[in-house]
Amino acid sequence: MKDFTRQHRISSLSEYTKAYDSSVKDPESFWSDIASSFKWKKKWNQTLKWDFEAPDVKWFLGGKLNITENLLDRHLEERGEEVAILWEPNDPDEKGLSISYRELHRKVCQFANAMISKGVAKGDRVIIYMPMVPEAAVAMLACARIGAVHSVVFAGFSASALADRINDCEAKMVLTSDGNFRGAKTIDVKGVVDEAVAKCGCIEKVIVYQRTKSDVHMESGRDLWWHDAIQDVSEEHQAEEMDAEDLLFILYTSGSTGKPKGVVHTCGGYMVYTYYSFLNVFQYKPGDIYWCTADVGWITGHSYIVYGPLLAGATTVMFEGVPTYPDAGRFWEVCDKYQVNQFYTAPTAIRALEAHGLELVEKHKLDSLRVIGSVGEPINEEAWHWYHEHIGKRKCPLVDTWWQTETGGIMISALAGITPNKPAHASLPLPGIQPVIVDSEGNELTGNNVEGNLCVKFPWPSILRTTYGDHERCKHTYFSAYKNMYFTGDGAKRDHDGYLRILGRVDDVINVSGHRMGTAEVENAIDEHPKVIESAVVGYPHDIKGQGIYAFVIAETDGIEDEIKETVNKMIGPIAKPDKIQIVPGLPKTRSGKIMRRILRKIASKETDNLGDTSTLLNPEVVEEIIKGAS
Ligand code: WTA
Repeated sequence: MKDFTRQHRISSLSEYTKAYDSSVKDPESFWSDIASSFKWKKKWNQTLKWDFEAPDVKWFLGGKLNITENLLDRHLEERGEEVAILWEPNDPDEKGLSISYRELHRKVCQFANAMISKGVAKGDRVIIYMPMVPEAAVAMLACARIGAVHSVVFAGFSASALADRINDCEAKMVLTSDGNFRGAKTIDVKGVVDEAVAKCGCIEKVIVYQRTKSDVHMESGRDLWWHDAIQDVSEEHQAEEMDAEDLLFILYTSGSTGKPKGVVHTCGGYMVYTYYSFLNVFQYKPGDIYWCTADVGWITGHSYIVYGPLLAGATTVMFEGVPTYPDAGRFWEVCDKYQVNQFYTAPTAIRALEAHGLELVEKHKLDSLRVIGSVGEPINEEAWHWYHEHIGKRKCPLVDTWWQTETGGIMISALAGITPNKPAHASLPLPGIQPVIVDSEGNELTGNNVEGNLCVKFPWPSILRTTYGDHERCKHTYFSAYKNMYFTGDGAKRDHDGYLRILGRVDDVINVSGHRMGTAEVENAIDEHPKVIESAVVGYPHDIKGQGIYAFVIAETDGIEDEIKETVNKMIGPIAKPDKIQIVPGLPKTRSGKIMRRILRKIASKETDNLGDTSTLLNPEVVEEIIKGAS
């Protein structure tokens, strides 16, 4: 079998340096060369057009393609019988699935035809609210095939959160399942969809994949079963011709205001960047088995379970369950079972599994592993060493990959075994990525041993193009803080060796178990409780989750902590439930009425020795009372 990936896989430090230099000197030729290895229906006539002020970024202008031809059709001749997806069900006793590229191609074409026959056309938005079954990937790819814009919503979000997303993008169809197996629980997915769709006038059809065989309501004229939808439907489909800048998907993510924003990615640039970054960070070689434990509801699942690996013709493992079921050795069992070579997970999972002790690790060999990776939040040194020593057996490079929903792909990371590994440091930018650290005025801090806010000063192919339906918001959030730069919302440090270390969010976003939660979003949910007057939410250090959610609440009465948690559960979902709720007599405010979160953060983190000057507050006396209440 020809190794078509070899051409763009960097294989030494000097090659990295060379690639990096040329990507900065002449970004257009650099990306053009990589893009040329794909199948285009029509070649682009301009590689890049950009203006960070507007913002307006376009890659491969005039190019026509379909991303699914590049991750399916293109592979059929050479590797049609190779495994594309290895599926591991929630229950280890249930039989898994091994789906070849040819089979996946057939399934995608068939479901694409089914969607068309149910009225979905190019440009329509389709919501995917599904468990981690191969059909979730089929659903995404079938949308891409016909040019519909998918928006995957993590199946742990509540009906209310789902309805907000459906309405925001005015979706026409929801793809879902009857239920969802998660560990020992069965979750009523269809019930959530029914409740959400009742609040959405735009949904015409709901297609339901049967997974749990639960007894669900099927609304006549609106709902139909997946297996019925594909009955007698052709397995041949001519992929829609898409412009490089046509929308591929929208993915909602939390920001510093109450409403989640729909991050928009487009076909051409996203394809080129996810492929290139996947190949180089994980050093994937044909025949390897790669496993990313994320959910397709998050960007990591999009870029590094589905798109990146399949573009590279890889075998990607998809896992339906949770790391602790039936016991906390499940990840390691699955690594051995499939002889996984590259394993990619989140620090929160590492810390949680570490807490279960080594016995469950040592039962497994883990000798197939060659590369281990981390994503979603800063990995603390302690967890880094545990992961490196006990899972990677000190021989696997550990890639700490920094990136965001907005960046589409990994931006700063070691390339496994190629560029140096340094505990708790994302380390070096990928070729094509030009990160800068700036001070509060936006001056670039050059040299080593500097700390500030992390920005990127030049576009890369998978940068977000807009926030759906609200371009101003995109401009304001990412391109207005510093002139001519993309602002990440993270703080970073360049250490004495020149390696980058990510210090965490500098805005009102909390990173809970690697999931982004806007404090305002949680506050809005809390305020829905009829007895709540006002609330302020901050993050605090949490041993397992990285950050926990601490809510300070002014309420008409005490003793409603559990009700508040339930309200948040209902408005957003279990991931947003506060870990601590403190009913307080007031919130510290400035004279202009702004809540002083800095003080609340310190109280939540038990750092009350140095609260700074509180005398300028409108209500300084309240600080003492809150501190008393906290202890
Ligand atoms: C954080 C996840 C430190 C960061 C891919 C970023 C990280 C946010 C790392 C994006 C890392 C992600 N080290 N922090 N390796 N990876 N983050 O959009 O704060 O869910 O801004 O994308 O997660 O989260 P998102």
